[in-house]
Amino acid sequence: MQARYERRLGAHALEVVVADITTLAVDAIVNAANETLLGGGGVDGAIHRAAGPGLLAECRKIGGCPTGEARLTAGHRLPARHVIHTVGPIWRGGDRDEEALLAAAYRNSLVLARAHDCASIAFPSISTGVYGYPGRAAAEVAVTAVAAELSQFRALRVVFCCFSEPAADWHREALEALVEGT
Ligand code: AR6
Repeated sequence: MQARYERRLGAHALEVVVADITTLAVDAIVNAANETLLGGGGVDGAIHRAAGPGLLAECRKIGGCPTGEARLTAGHRLPARHVIHTVGPIWRGGDRDEEALLAAAYRNSLVLARAHDCASIAFPSISTGVYGYPGRAAAEVAVTAVAAELSQFRALRVVFCCFSEPAADWHREALEALVEGT
């Protein structure tokens, strides 16, 4: 794994790592789920496997989640205290509100993190796997949406947990652009 990359914005720390998100000991990891919240492939499958069957049982009680919204569960067997399940948009070419829905998925995840006193949160690159959102564009949306919410927190550590070096590069570049623009 490449050295961790970190940028500070005031009291907040924004990091980019290449890792399996299920291994991260943060207050909350975010799951790129689907509207059923009943599991799937990709990061969703990995989180359910690592958390154990208690997670699926808890998700069943929630009864789904519309695209762009988020729901919180316990972390069960994960090192993370909570899982915040959000549903990113399916990429349909870019003119179906995908950008606003992806930003909403990040924003609503952070609203829950704040409500549950999380001081650290890790995001996968939502929508960029099965849902087909272009990775570089998604990284820009992710970083911008997260930065816009930081003022709601006293001090937040945000980990952009990428699953490939190109994805990490796109997040690092988006963070650099953000820091230069502040
Ligand atoms: N840790 C971190 N990132 C991961 C991991 C992992 N263990 N595994 C995959 N990724 P995807 P989506 C990355 O497809 O596009 C599911 O079936 C992956 O490389 O998991 O939002 C759900 O149930 C990619 O960059 O989620 C939905 O049906 C990113 O996570 C659907 O897929 C997201 O890829 C959601 O699609």
